Amino acid sequence: MGKKTIGDFKSMVANGEKIVWLTAYDYLTAKMQEKAGVDMILIGDSLGMVSLGYDTTFPVTMDDMIRHCQAVRRGAPNTFIVGDMPYMSYQRSDEEAIANAGRFVKEAGADAIKLEGGGAMIASRIRAIQQAGILVMGHIGLTPQFMGQIGGYRAQGRSASAAMKLVKEAKAVEEAGAFGILVEGVPAVVGKAITERAGIPILGIGAGSYTHGQLLIYADMVGMYDNFTPKFVKKYANVGEVLTNAFKEYAEEVRKGQFPNDDEHTYKMSDTEIKEFLGAIDK
Ligand code: KIV
Repeated sequence: MGKKTIGDFKSMVANGEKIVWLTAYDYLTAKMQEKAGVDMILIGDSLGMVSLGYDTTFPVTMDDMIRHCQAVRRGAPNTFIVGDMPYMSYQRSDEEAIANAGRFVKEAGADAIKLEGGGAMIASRIRAIQQAGILVMGHIGLTPQFMGQIGGYRAQGRSASAAMKLVKEAKAVEEAGAFGILVEGVPAVVGKAITERAGIPILGIGAGSYTHGQLLIYADMVGMYDNFTPKFVKKYANVGEVLTNAFKEYAEEVRKGQFPNDDEHTYKMSDTEIKEFLGAIDK
């Protein structure tokens, strides 16, 4: 099966088929996700917490994003990938936003970019980037790059007026030319209201089951990132525990001299060569 296009995503929406989306930050994970048949991969700026060990997404740079996006592209050559615009890569001007969005496509083979926010400035950036020929995914609701203004990492749209504001933002992002919108951390009723009124695919992360597709941060759903787990995450595996146990077992075997086993884990040498070698070594 070849790489999906926005036409395929529109058809999936029209046929009531859900779009499956996960984050990835490296070659191996991307390879497994492509093998699993994931429709879309996001190289999220959650890279900052998941792979680089920061407390927030703020320190993530364009160079960080490009390097990881390239690795994901190598692992998933046939999957639609979305590069996440990091903090201060698009906020300053339309020109800078176009240049940085272009880097994702030109240097890392991304199919689209994503940026956060729903105000007038963001509409201008979306319009500019999409006019430059690059597909843009919007992102509204819980938008970590606007953490200060939205009152921290917390659910959004929980009052009638806040929910109304999100419905308006979704419309503005769509009108600016986004090909899809990610809605994060809102009550299911708000996710549904936005989805029912949209003319483009609406993807959700913590926005209920009604959206046209779902996204999760892969490290959350396989039980690898345990610093903090949002309410909307379901754990499908406990990979963190599996890996930690493997590391412990390895450490124990090395310390006891049980690994490596020279019959199993070493390279062979013929008896003749061994004899010649041992005979010559101390002469
Ligand atoms: O950076 C990211 O992974 C994201 C998702 C959390 C929505 O933007």
